[in-house]
Amino acid sequence: MPFDLRQSLAVDNHQSLDLVEQYINPAFAKVLRILGFDVNYTRGQGAYLWDDKGNRYIDCLGGYGVFNCGRNHPVIRQALHDAMDLDLPNLIKMGQAKLSGMLARELVKTAPPGLEMVFFTNCGAGGVDTAIKYARAATGRDRIVYCKKGFHGLSVGALSVNGNEEFRSGFGSLMPFTAIPYNDLAALEAELAKKDVAGFICEPIQGKGVNMPSDEYLPGVAKLCKKYGSLYIDDEVQTGYGRTGKMWAWEHWAGGDESLSPDIMITAKALSGGYVPAGAVISKRWVHEKVFSSLDRCVVHSTTFGQNDMAMAAGLATLAVLREEKIVENAATVGAFLQEGLRATLSKHELFKEVRGKGLMVAVEFGPPKGMMLKAQWAMIHKLDPSLFPQAVLIPLLTDHHVLAQTAGHHIDVIKLIPPLVLSQADAQHVINAFDIVVGNCCKLSGPMWEVGKRLAGNSLKRSPASQAQPVA
Ligand SMILES: Cc1ncc(COP(=O)(O)O)c(C=O)c1O
Repeated sequence: MPFDLRQSLAVDNHQSLDLVEQYINPAFAKVLRILGFDVNYTRGQGAYLWDDKGNRYIDCLGGYGVFNCGRNHPVIRQALHDAMDLDLPNLIKMGQAKLSGMLARELVKTAPPGLEMVFFTNCGAGGVDTAIKYARAATGRDRIVYCKKGFHGLSVGALSVNGNEEFRSGFGSLMPFTAIPYNDLAALEAELAKKDVAGFICEPIQGKGVNMPSDEYLPGVAKLCKKYGSLYIDDEVQTGYGRTGKMWAWEHWAGGDESLSPDIMITAKALSGGYVPAGAVISKRWVHEKVFSSLDRCVVHSTTFGQNDMAMAAGLATLAVLREEKIVENAATVGAFLQEGLRATLSKHELFKEVRGKGLMVAVEFGPPKGMMLKAQWAMIHKLDPSLFPQAVLIPLLTDHHVLAQTAGHHIDVIKLIPPLVLSQADAQHVINAFDIVVGNCCKLSGPMWEVGKRLAGNSLKRSPASQAQPVA
């Protein structure tokens, strides 16, 4: 019998998580079960997921930020059907198919001014590795400077510029690069002034914690890099393609000024349309020419699937959908509505600290309460595991209000919301109301904070810690 995907899914009576437990990642399956995140999802559309009982969830996690156009967007899906039906001459390698050139041309039109050349990757970390190589080849220098708490992926190159010890530890020596505090121009200048720095890499808004830059930071980075002959590498893997209410987060602070453009911009995630892994590194022409510097070095940097037609079709359709459906504008409006609503509603709760972000990259931060008894509970849960408190909010958000979200990192009391950018105002209001109820309950003595402490303490979390449920985005 020929392979039939529908039939295979229909006759397989294992739950998704059983298979993960047996073949992919038992520890992760266990953590999902302990947290009550073992929902059997069967369908996704736009900003929603559905489970096998027909319940609808608002997806504020967005596959770690890949569904900017929404899940299973019909235009992107059609483009992929078309790409298959056309029997395109994919991956010729010694010869060239057309779609990658078309997508590169579209990307350059949207990119910060002065960025003209595109290298396609299969993921964000591949883009970071590319940028490290480009910066070294272009400057003839070795050292890369990166930010503490920065996240750029988990390949060995990307891990070497990852500012989170939780991800670095246990994997031996990484490349000898230098970490400095984010948002600190003096620290950056001190390193760049040594004149051995190939490039400085940073996210415009740090994904871990959703840490915001001061207004002077990114313009200052561009100027300092220029002054000392180092490349400014802008990692827009998470913030790109409209996430923050502008096509690139860089625009918020540089306003399209070419003198403040990065030398290299890394993008990925949403370029995929949520379907086909894809990334694009967009760089200045002179940088590119230093890498591919002669005929015999014309493929000195490459990846087998980089320009594959399915990814290129998804990318072209994604750019068209973002533009035609005014999705970036929606991220700005609904993002502002969500942030203002959360701020106004949550400020009455004593565990609430602040809401920050741009567009639909939003953080809700919590802090110690004032009341004696609640303070004791707060201290208890943090002693048990410093990454645990957000779960007291996230679990009831999911189970009682069908809002799927994530913590923003290890050892912080921050929840991050990165929903599909097609989120409606009504959905945003549902999220605000859900937070209001859940955080209100957390302020009660026998509320979710107590429950989660009890439940997770009983599950020997030190061996399979709640912090393992941390996002890698
Ligand atoms: C800013 C940033 N850079 C790079 C990456 C790595 O991307 P990938 O997981 O596709 O390798 C991520 C992933 O979350 C990211 O957020």
